[in-house]
Amino acid sequence: MKKAIIVLLGVALGFCSAQAQELTKENFKPTGSQDYDEAVNRFLNGIEPKIVGGKKAADGAYPWQVTLLVKGIPNTHQAHFCGGSIYNSQRIVTAAHCLIGVSPNQFEVAAGTNILNQTVKRHKVARRIIHADYGKAKRFDSDIALVQLAEPMKLNDRQMAIALLTSDQEGQVYVDPNDLIVTGWGATEEGGSKVRDLREVTVPFVSAKRCTDPLSYGDRVTDKMVCAGEPQKDSCQGDSGGPLITVAPKDKVRLAGIVSWGDGCARPGKYGIYTRVRAFTGWVAACVSGAACSELK
Ligand code: ARG
Repeated sequence: MKKAIIVLLGVALGFCSAQAQELTKENFKPTGSQDYDEAVNRFLNGIEPKIVGGKKAADGAYPWQVTLLVKGIPNTHQAHFCGGSIYNSQRIVTAAHCLIGVSPNQFEVAAGTNILNQTVKRHKVARRIIHADYGKAKRFDSDIALVQLAEPMKLNDRQMAIALLTSDQEGQVYVDPNDLIVTGWGATEEGGSKVRDLREVTVPFVSAKRCTDPLSYGDRVTDKMVCAGEPQKDSCQGDSGGPLITVAPKDKVRLAGIVSWGDGCARPGKYGIYTRVRAFTGWVAACVSGAACSELK
């Protein structure tokens, strides 16, 4: 008898949530994007939804930062699965690995906030473009994607576009020593949970020579990636897709990298690996202008 009631209750709950189009164990099919599927599984299993060694960001200090949200998870904090950056009023730059297998009607974008709370406005997505070379030469190679919003969002001092690093700047940015900043709602420790308030950490750029050392990553790091971090200072799970930016000069902040991968988080010799944004400025410009740009279908 008890069983029957539980089953009935289950069916009724399933029915209700289906109506509200909420994700359930029954209606969810894994997409293949590890970050997306992880956010959904945490939600379905009632687990609270990671930047290591950083601090809470000042309100509005990183106005290009956006959150990618799983559609069908009403709670913003639980729905967050990746970060991204505003390129213009209708385009977001993020990591390809965040959106593999995720179609435009399965996620939304929110901007203009440091806090993942319920007041955020969710923007609908019209299209996503994943770089054609993603994962071809090496795992996570060319880890970049663009998201096109269904409607342009208002840009103001709380939600602002960030320019991509240009060729004349890269010599001062992709060098050791140089400090960069990475921001996100990801875990504050390896295996930890996502956070509600946006965090930032300053990480030193790490040369390809040090990063491809056999004791570091060897040949897993390609010329489409850059490395940054030091023991106890890193990005982590949940930060993916988010921005790695230049610090100086302050009036010319540029997007230098996209959080991509790493072995664990903040481990000695295991730096954070970022998409080398400078290598993709041509691709982004072509996609945005509507010209042909190579896309993974
Ligand atoms: N793929 C991770 C994400 O899912 C990003 C990991 C970055 N790791 C690192 N140690 N920096 O959010």
